[in-house]
Amino acid sequence: MGLVSAEGMLRKAYENGYAVGQFNINNLEWTKAVLNTAQELNSPVILGVSEGAAKYMTGYVTVTEMVKAMIKGLNITVPVALHLDHGSYEGAYKAIEAGFSSIMFDGSHYPIEENIAKTKELVEVTKKLGLSLEAEVGSIGGEEDGVVGAGEVADPLECKLIADLGVTILAAGIGNIHGKYPENWKGLNFDVLTQIKNITSGVPLVLHGGTGIPEEMIKKAIALGVAKINVNTECQLVFAAATRKYIEAGKDLQGKGFDPRKLLNPGYEAIKASVKEKMQLFGSVNQA
Ligand code: 13P
Repeated sequence: MGLVSAEGMLRKAYENGYAVGQFNINNLEWTKAVLNTAQELNSPVILGVSEGAAKYMTGYVTVTEMVKAMIKGLNITVPVALHLDHGSYEGAYKAIEAGFSSIMFDGSHYPIEENIAKTKELVEVTKKLGLSLEAEVGSIGGEEDGVVGAGEVADPLECKLIADLGVTILAAGIGNIHGKYPENWKGLNFDVLTQIKNITSGVPLVLHGGTGIPEEMIKKAIALGVAKINVNTECQLVFAAATRKYIEAGKDLQGKGFDPRKLLNPGYEAIKASVKEKMQLFGSVNQA
C-alpha cells in the first residue's frame, strides 16, 4: 500500500475509542524503526515531519520518496500517512506538491479570522486532492523545531469555528506542551477537552506533546475524543540514551563497533520499543 490520507484511520479510531500515534521522523533510522514496528503490531501509523526535520532531510521531496520507497522495500502493508507537522501556510503548499498525504496547517498564532480564512482555503485544496487536514486552535506550549507555543488553553467556541470549516482533525491546546513536562505541570484540562468535544460535532481531536503524559491521562483523553496522539521528544530521548550507553561502554572501540550500522542500532531498537509501548497504550495494535 502506498501513502494514505489519515482520514480513514482516524475516523475508525474515533468511532472505536482508540488513538493512532503520530511519530515524528528525523532520518532513515527513525523512519525504518516506526514503519517496522507498525507492521509488526499490525497498526496504522502517521509519520510526522516538521518543517525543520524536512529541511534537515534535504527537503519534502526527499522525505516523500524515502518513505514511499521504504514502504515498498520493507513490504509495509499497514496504512501509513505522511503528515506535515505544524506546517506554515507556505510549507503546507510545498508538502502537498511533494506528495505528502496529510497536512497540518498551524494557524494558531494568527488572529482567529486569519486562521479561519487560511484554514478554509486549505480545506478546499486538500479535499480536492483527497488529503487529510489538521488545524490548530490555541497554541501548544513549549518549543518544537523553533516553533514556540505559549501553551494556551483553546477557546471551545473558536474550536467550533475551525471544526465547522470541514477540517479532518483538530488540535486544540488543553494544557499540553511539547518536550519534557515541568515538575509543576498542572496536567491536561479535561473540562475544556469535554467542552471542545461536545461543541465540535464529531471531528476527531489531536493531542500534541505526547511525551511524558501519564497513562491515565492518555486513556481519559482518548475516551473524550482524542484519536491522534503526537510523540516526538520521547523517541529522541531514548535514541540518545541508548547511543550514549553504547559509546560509554566503549563498544564503538571494539572490533568494527564504529560502523554506523552497529553504532546506530541500539538507538534504532530503543525507538522501536518506545513506539511499541505507545501503540499498545493508544490501542491501535491490530487495527490496521
Ligand atoms: P513531544 O515532542 O512532546 O512528544 O510532542 C510531539 C508533538 O506534539 C509533535 O507535534
